[in-house]
Amino acid sequence: MVATPQQDSRDDAADERRFLHVQTFGCQMNVNDTDRIFQVLAPHGYQPTDDPARADLILLNTCSVRDKAEQKMLSQLGRLAPLKEYNEELVLGVAGCVAQQEGERLLKRVPYLDLVFGPDHIGALPELVAKVRDEHRRVAETTFKKRKAFEFVEAEAPAEPKVSEFVTIMKGCDKVCSYCIVPFTRGREVSKSVEMILREVERLVAGGAREVTLLGQNVNSYGKDLAGDRVPTFAQLLRTVDAVEGVERLRFTTSHPMDCIDDLVACFADLPSLCEYFHLPVQSGSDRVLRQMRRFYTVADYHEKVAALRAVAPGIALSTDIIVGFPGETDAELEQTMALLAAVRFDSIFAFKYSERPGTKAVKLGDTVPERVKKARLARVLALQDEITRERMAAYVGETVEVLVEGPSRMASRGLVGDRWQLMGRTRTNVIVNFPVPVGEFWRKRHVGRLVKIEVVEAKSNSLFGKLV
Ligand code: 5AD
Ligand code: SF4
Repeated sequence: MVATPQQDSRDDAADERRFLHVQTFGCQMNVNDTDRIFQVLAPHGYQPTDDPARADLILLNTCSVRDKAEQKMLSQLGRLAPLKEYNEELVLGVAGCVAQQEGERLLKRVPYLDLVFGPDHIGALPELVAKVRDEHRRVAETTFKKRKAFEFVEAEAPAEPKVSEFVTIMKGCDKVCSYCIVPFTRGREVSKSVEMILREVERLVAGGAREVTLLGQNVNSYGKDLAGDRVPTFAQLLRTVDAVEGVERLRFTTSHPMDCIDDLVACFADLPSLCEYFHLPVQSGSDRVLRQMRRFYTVADYHEKVAALRAVAPGIALSTDIIVGFPGETDAELEQTMALLAAVRFDSIFAFKYSERPGTKAVKLGDTVPERVKKARLARVLALQDEITRERMAAYVGETVEVLVEGPSRMASRGLVGDRWQLMGRTRTNVIVNFPVPVGEFWRKRHVGRLVKIEVVEAKSNSLFGKLV
């Protein structure tokens, strides 16, 4: 049968329409990178799909901070492999930190894998995919660009920004904590220009975002790599973003205690939009372990930082990261970590069992703490923190808090609990609050994106329940 001209043009259009499926593992940085992946491939005809069986290109955006995350990614690859038997054209790729770390080795290990690329190469993704598709090559691109040669992909705002959005302000990490693989997978610190950051923030706010979280592995180092007098410090950057019309709430993550200095602390006193919440990873309560971790502060230094923050912002919520079972950690040193938790009384923590990472300095210390000891220590740390978190959450009951409404409650089915709409938002201290509103679209729409006052009536383990004041 001879195709009519009309049919021809329809087929061309169908040819160009391709589907992209991305699975994201790990931290917020990866979530943000996934958005950029969709962004750079969209002009090449790739539309997002949740269904891997429908995809022409599947990418796993991976995390290698602990071994478990890496194993999870490998088993997921195994599950996706059969799809290649049904679709010979399917391109299967690995992005993110495992890709950067393994490079060519991953292509050798996984024979059905087509593409491996590190986080620095998202901008070049269309060309990399074309090499695989058109030249039928297997491609690994994991060279680190020199600091000066690195260019950020400027983030476009999504069509409908969420109430709370993230903006990457820098990449990489120049600290060399002895356990951490991030400096090897994300490379040296590179700061995004203030102009680009402001354009991204302004676009998000114009689209309806009200809260912005500035994102980087070590945001306090912002600007140190940029030359020139006009380059702001991180604290100055916060002041600049705070002044953007429409930014009602400002947050940032993650920070290193060594760089948490006076000018940053002062921001909590001065900046109306800067929320009273600070994630400040301490890792251990033992000075000896901290030295071995190459963290370059002592427990006393950390307490000083906390005191300084609480002096300017008495209600500030603090969270932290803890590693248990670092090489050589004794029972007594674990007790020191417990003592630190009891003394600081964090609002919440993230605690991890030490996981030996290839190429890091800590490898030479050996992975000396047995798995069952790590497990028991983790359970103790989490049990203590559960108690503290419960007490801190209970203290909200009876208080009236300011909540930025993000949307329907996650506990609700399509926003409804029984016959009532249930919405969710967060306090400035980053606690989730659920609250009902009368039935009706009018009410639901009216609140989303707004700041409301909620009287807290009940504290659950990780969220609050309240009523509109
Ligand atoms: N083992 C366990 N936890 C780790 N983290 C980073 N590297 C490791 C590792 N090798 C934790 C740290 C860091 C968080 C993001 O992950 O606590 O702050
Ligand atoms: Fe890893 Fe330390 Fe850098 Fe954080 S500050 S990313 S723990 S090296």
